[in-house]
Amino acid sequence: MRIAMIGTGYVGLVSGACFADFGHQVTCVDKDAGKIAALLRGEIPIFEPGLDDLVASNVKAKRLDFTTDLTGPVAEADAVFIAVGTPSRRGDGHADLTYVHSAAREIAAALSGFTVVVTKSTVPVGTGDEVERLIRETNPSADVAVASNPEFLREGAAIRDFKFPDRIVVGTSDERARKVMGDIYRPLSLNQAPLMFTARRTAELIKYAANAFLATKITFINEIADLSEKVGANVQEVARGIGLDNRIGSKFLHAGPGFGGSCFPKDTRALVKIALDHDVQLRIVEAVLGVNDNRKRAMARKVANAVGGNLRGKTVAVLGLTFKPDTDDMREAPSIPLVTGLLDMGAKVRAHDPVGMEQARKELPDIEYCEDPYECVRGADALVIVTEWVQFRALDLDRIKSAMAQPVVVDLRNIYRADDMAAHGFVYESIGRGVEPGL
Ligand code: UDX
Repeated sequence: MRIAMIGTGYVGLVSGACFADFGHQVTCVDKDAGKIAALLRGEIPIFEPGLDDLVASNVKAKRLDFTTDLTGPVAEADAVFIAVGTPSRRGDGHADLTYVHSAAREIAAALSGFTVVVTKSTVPVGTGDEVERLIRETNPSADVAVASNPEFLREGAAIRDFKFPDRIVVGTSDERARKVMGDIYRPLSLNQAPLMFTARRTAELIKYAANAFLATKITFINEIADLSEKVGANVQEVARGIGLDNRIGSKFLHAGPGFGGSCFPKDTRALVKIALDHDVQLRIVEAVLGVNDNRKRAMARKVANAVGGNLRGKTVAVLGLTFKPDTDDMREAPSIPLVTGLLDMGAKVRAHDPVGMEQARKELPDIEYCEDPYECVRGADALVIVTEWVQFRALDLDRIKSAMAQPVVVDLRNIYRADDMAAHGFVYESIGRGVEPGL
């Protein structure tokens, strides 16, 4: 199969490289000439484990190419994937579809022979209809079917998620398009991945509903964590106890400082807006957004309380800045409201992140960046673990303690055991792990 991938952002690049790895002929297209030149030199613009090797080997095998001009690749393609950005529109939280619409018009003009145009970007329900309308308006004689094929990749695990997905969702009622999409994803049938065909609008809604449900699960356990602290229960045990029920499932029940990233906050906001446009109020999703925003803001106060209430003149060491491990992505990271809150309360902040410090400097310019965790904690009155990078899971606790001014650790990801920390002489706060009376 010949594939044109429009947009070499996170989704486009990972999907393009993985499709090429299946044996398809893929051309990735981007308007950004600098980005394409870098990719042609073998430089990957994002941090994603394994992506550099995957791109290099498929370029070498001549299955993967990069260009700024979509004309040739679209004319030759069996399928054209639209994987351009859909940021939150300033002011109203709706997804901004400018890039999707302009891609649709440009693709339309270049189409030749039967082609499936596939939206992979997360787009509001009904966007497939609009893309089809724009294509037919621009090129009335085009032989085209428009399908929706949402992606469910997690940053940091994107290649694995692409190759071993729980399911693939394809929204189209066109038989020829179903055949093309079936051929494109056939290599995954070896991995037993169910290919679910449905109607286009349903596929578009599946993506939003999946993200909103996962965000709800996280927010639910976060509220149970708050209650656990008050009643003297352990939220990790509660999560295990409920997660063993197959109807609930054990995943996405890790309590923490609130969800961030490029998808959950943006997509839950967009879903609320889509629903309101159709006179439906999604009260649960609205509550999830409100609770999560408040939670992220409340984390600075939790740190202040751990050092006795007043942060003025205190130094706080922050370990982990990115919204989760194995990425350099700072979008909507819980570290941003946390650090801002600490600074507002008069603290001095030193921080370390294994990969994300360059990105973090743009968001948080007024703090000191340190090259390793031990330098970071030097003279600190509190250490806050914000992102659960594997590098932070086995720190030399004696070395940490002797470097700090006060041995206070606030572990927002529950990566340490309370008894271990007490044995090392730390004052230790975590999330939702209250002390049961009598234990
Ligand atoms: C998410 C979805 O998982 C993916 O299917 C979709 O395509 C894009 O959005 P991603 O944003 O990369 O992927 O990260 P994910 O691992 O889902 O984590 C999102 C946020 O939730 C992070 O801030 C993470 O720390 C937080 N989280 C996740 C929790 O706080 N607890 C959990 O149990 C799981």
